[in-house]
Amino acid sequence: MWSALVIPTFLFLSCFSVGSAQIPGSVTHGNDRYPPFWDQINGDIAEFPVQDNKIIIDLWKYKDRLQIYKILIRESNKYFVQFGKNDTGNVLWGLTLLYGKLYKTGRFVKPSNSSVCAYEGEFPGCISIDSGWGGFNFYVLTIYFLAAIESGFLRNISQEIVFLSPEEHRSYFCYSIEECRASFPQAMDTAKKFYQYLQSRKILSIVGGTPVYNTDKDTAILYMWDAHQALIDIGKPMFNDIFQYSSATERDFTFNFLLAIEFCAAAIYRSFFESSAEFLVGFPHRPLTDEDDPILPSDFNIREKALMSSVKLISNINQMTGGSFLTVWKKAMNVSKITQFLGRLVIKNLLLIPNT
Ligand SMILES: *[C@@H]1O[C@H](CO)[C@@H](O)[C@H](O)[C@H]1NC(C)=O
Ligand SMILES: *[C@@H]1O[C@H](CO)[C@@H](O)[C@H](O)[C@H]1NC(C)=O
Ligand SMILES: *[C@@H]1O[C@H](CO)[C@@H](O)[C@H](O)[C@H]1NC(C)=O
Ligand SMILES: *[C@@H]1O[C@H](CO)[C@@H](O)[C@H](O)[C@H]1NC(C)=O
Repeated sequence: MWSALVIPTFLFLSCFSVGSAQIPGSVTHGNDRYPPFWDQINGDIAEFPVQDNKIIIDLWKYKDRLQIYKILIRESNKYFVQFGKNDTGNVLWGLTLLYGKLYKTGRFVKPSNSSVCAYEGEFPGCISIDSGWGGFNFYVLTIYFLAAIESGFLRNISQEIVFLSPEEHRSYFCYSIEECRASFPQAMDTAKKFYQYLQSRKILSIVGGTPVYNTDKDTAILYMWDAHQALIDIGKPMFNDIFQYSSATERDFTFNFLLAIEFCAAAIYRSFFESSAEFLVGFPHRPLTDEDDPILPSDFNIREKALMSSVKLISNINQMTGGSFLTVWKKAMNVSKITQFLGRLVIKNLLLIPNT
């Protein structure tokens, strides 16, 4: 068992300096780390339009999805107060900040015409139904939301919710609890586990008038990542059929990134606000083009290059070992909290420090 742990960990720790000097390019602070338009919505279900006593949501609008993220964050904040002030300890920040980043970096555009659903910076726009990232994000968010409703986590919703369902690629997407449960029962159950865990928490103490629940952060983060993986696994087989990317290089980056996330998940990577924002500093600020390969052009900064080359390295090693790199990593991470801690250290060094 120990050899499974020691080999990969040692390899990485010896290649990359541990806990080393100041990470370059990490000093971005302030509200630009929140998703675009975050402060202009309030995370209240009542903000959606109502028609015939039904709440109408358009999942192909950036703002509607953002609203759902904010509802989930708001409703779950109370379980995470002890993990960071101003609700930065909520473990759903990782997914929420990635969503904002995908929009801001132009990854929800129509791949065949990048001016459709582009990030304008002034008005919240759309998410192209052809976009690969938009598709993955659809499954992640929709099923997270529907599982929250199904498990009774969102007590307030008394009206029926209707998702607008465009005809395009209709059979690939699910637009209601009934449809999603029929098509993806396991993923729904995996997402429900996250909420059921939170619902089972008890108030441990009251600090300054605020109840503190007995949430175990490792458990909550593990369930959060488990659900994320189940939802990504739904999206993956669709990518050849319907999802498109702006280039083959961008497509490869997408899959390498999602694989890297699996490594992070196994190490129970912290998905709090600060650690997620830090992680995403290196997320490339625009979709990659085929000209970007193999030499990374100069409009990417040092952190972006670090992230891109690291996810590629992880993917290459995994491919060379026929997938057993991930298997061994998962086993090693499953040994103890110490190996998970080491795993997070390795990931931090890999993704945050340039290795070229
Ligand atoms: C649900 O109701 C409670 C109490 O009425 C309120 O504080 C909370 O903001 C509501 N949540 C949403 C998402 O509307
Ligand atoms: C607290 O969080 C909100 C968003 O939820 C953000 O707009 C605000 O700037 C944060 N306040 C501080 C002091 O960081
Ligand atoms: C791309 O979309 C824009 C806006 O919808 C449109 O004006 C333009 O003609 C389209 N370009 C192409 C090449 O289809
Ligand atoms: C992790 O260990 C537990 C038992 O300790 C086992 O049930 C589970 O399948 C293991 N997971 C992986 C990914 O190896």
